[in-house]
Amino acid sequence: MPKQKIVVAYSGGLDTSVMVKWLSEKYDADIITVTGDLGQKAELEGLREKAMQTGAAKFYQVDLREEFITEYVWKALKAGALYEGTYPMATAIGRPLLAKLVADIALAEGADMVAHGCTGKGNDQVRFEVGIQTLAPHMKIIAPLRTWEFKSREEEMEYAFEHKIPVKAKKDSPYSIDENLWGIAIECGILEDPTMSPPEDAYQITTNPKDAPDESAFVSITFEKGIPVKLNGVSMTGTELVSELNNTGAAHGIGRLDNIENRVVGIKSREVYEAPAATILHKAHTELEKLILDKDTFRAKQDISNKVANLIYDGLWFSPLFKSLMAFVDATQENITGEVILELYKGNLIIQSRESAYSLYSKELATYTIEDSFDHSASEGFLKIYGLPYKTMSIIAGRKEVLV
Ligand code: ARG
Repeated sequence: MPKQKIVVAYSGGLDTSVMVKWLSEKYDADIITVTGDLGQKAELEGLREKAMQTGAAKFYQVDLREEFITEYVWKALKAGALYEGTYPMATAIGRPLLAKLVADIALAEGADMVAHGCTGKGNDQVRFEVGIQTLAPHMKIIAPLRTWEFKSREEEMEYAFEHKIPVKAKKDSPYSIDENLWGIAIECGILEDPTMSPPEDAYQITTNPKDAPDESAFVSITFEKGIPVKLNGVSMTGTELVSELNNTGAAHGIGRLDNIENRVVGIKSREVYEAPAATILHKAHTELEKLILDKDTFRAKQDISNKVANLIYDGLWFSPLFKSLMAFVDATQENITGEVILELYKGNLIIQSRESAYSLYSKELATYTIEDSFDHSASEGFLKIYGLPYKTMSIIAGRKEVLV
């Protein structure tokens, strides 16, 4: 019988390194590791050698950065998707693309199963497995971390040592970190105590706003149909634009978040994030929508933003509902073209200017000067009717009863 093939979603960290060896022994299988480059920088160095030394039969590393930005991040940005109002969801947006990569390779390789290194209490297992179930419905999925014998990192380290698995002897970080171009999630260590503010070493890229330069920076972002196409007047790829904004934003202390968050499995967790580019782009994009969208569309979109955020967070990127809601979002973005200028100053993001050929702002209507063209007398009739239900209610019930 030919050996079984297992495709492993591989990061090269302790869990997935131990997993490669453990799976090859337990199933006597050929292990094919798959890594997607979403801009996680240092983690990718020397990964091929590491995978092969750990016992992988085959190694894939695919640069998904531009696809990640244009096909995933831009959709979330257009949708205004911020989970529970603040988290731009770098991890949650990256997982479906990694699931797609793993599913595609597993199908092409004729693999018997796929394996991932998510634990049983996180959101990533949900995003990964629902993604695989949708894209490769007959593929068997295994999650060794949910069932294997190791009860702690120390036990995994011991196994790695015994089996000569190269695990980076990097200085012991108490944090669990997940990084991509759209942001960084930092968990564990002292952060598990929600009464403790994050120590400075928890932050990976951002300057403490207190130590940020006294001179502010200004950035201008040009959007076309809801998508950022220029930074400071220069056209660039999505990857370049996000990377550059991350650098500028991080230097000025932009994009630190400290959240208590409701996980899919019902646990509340404390999450620290750094997402400078995401913070800047969401703010700029919403600002442009405020200028361009009519009142009802803007309000409806706020509800849809929240729904889209929940779907992405809950691992339902490849769902019919997500597709339908995105059709609504795309329709709203038809005129979201224009430029926003922001000032970055010691962790603050200050709007300087917004302009668009599709702006619905009318100075003539808004002004309190002699130029005013608004018909004030029309409001009299409007208010007689607009307030009528409440006036009627009070007349019938008696004013006091209504108020108490
Ligand atoms: N709580 C965040 C989310 O679910 C971040 C998860 C970070 N993942 C990780 N493997 N460290 O999107």
